[in-house]
Amino acid sequence: MSTASITQPTFVPATLDLGDLLLRPWGPELEVRGGAVASLAAAAADPEISLWNPLRAADPVQAQAFIDKWAAGWESGTLAYFAILDPAGADLLGTAALRWTDRADGLAMVGYWLLPAARGRGAVTRATRAITRWGFETAGARRIELAHAVDNPASCRVAERCGFPLEGTLRASYRFGDGRYHDEHLHARLATDPWTGQ
Ligand SMILES: CC(C)(COP(=O)(O)OP(=O)(O)OC[C@H]1O[C@@H](n2cnc3c(N)ncnc32)[C@H](O)[C@@H]1OP(=O)(O)O)[C@@H](O)C(=O)NCCC(=O)NCCS
Repeated sequence: MSTASITQPTFVPATLDLGDLLLRPWGPELEVRGGAVASLAAAAADPEISLWNPLRAADPVQAQAFIDKWAAGWESGTLAYFAILDPAGADLLGTAALRWTDRADGLAMVGYWLLPAARGRGAVTRATRAITRWGFETAGARRIELAHAVDNPASCRVAERCGFPLEGTLRASYRFGDGRYHDEHLHARLATDPWTGQ
């Protein structure tokens, strides 16, 4: 009898140390200066984040519910939500995350946001590249997609800098925080795409 077992793509909790950035799983053990719940609630209240990543977590009860959901996602291997931290003081800088859209097929989607004070210095590019590689190398991802509103050019630059070529435009595909459906750019990387740049 064969002892081989069928495994499915899965996210296993990990800490990714990028030197001046630390990526840690969101969950009950996450230590953040000022508190994880308060920091997430503050992020969700930021106008740019509430527009492009409508978290609806601007009060502590909602923020706690998101942290619980992300922790449950790590436990089941279905979500990989990493807090991006400044290792010097454990300040929350942002989030970079993967989730399966078709787990059996190894198809995942990546997303991210940064608090205003952390923007403009490439932190999200490095974090997104790191979790993308991790998703391909450890989780069994075959293809990782990245979608952003056409009206969000900063995110388009992040996608390009992370090596996700633009594949097309999705029409009125997602309802953002302003309550309107926006067109989105679909970018994607395959596990077989070569890494360039870094
Ligand atoms: C999108 C986001 C993660 C980008 O992070 P960032 O640190 O601000 O990125 P950078 O400042 O390094 O800018 C990335 C690029 O976009 C450009 N850019 C930034 N703001 C821009 C704007 N308003 N219009 C056009 N280009 C812009 C920068 O010049 C840079 O281009 P470069 O690579 O040629 O230098 C961050 O702005 C953010 O969290 N925004 C709010 C939430 C959000 O949009 N999340 C993504 C949802 S898909």
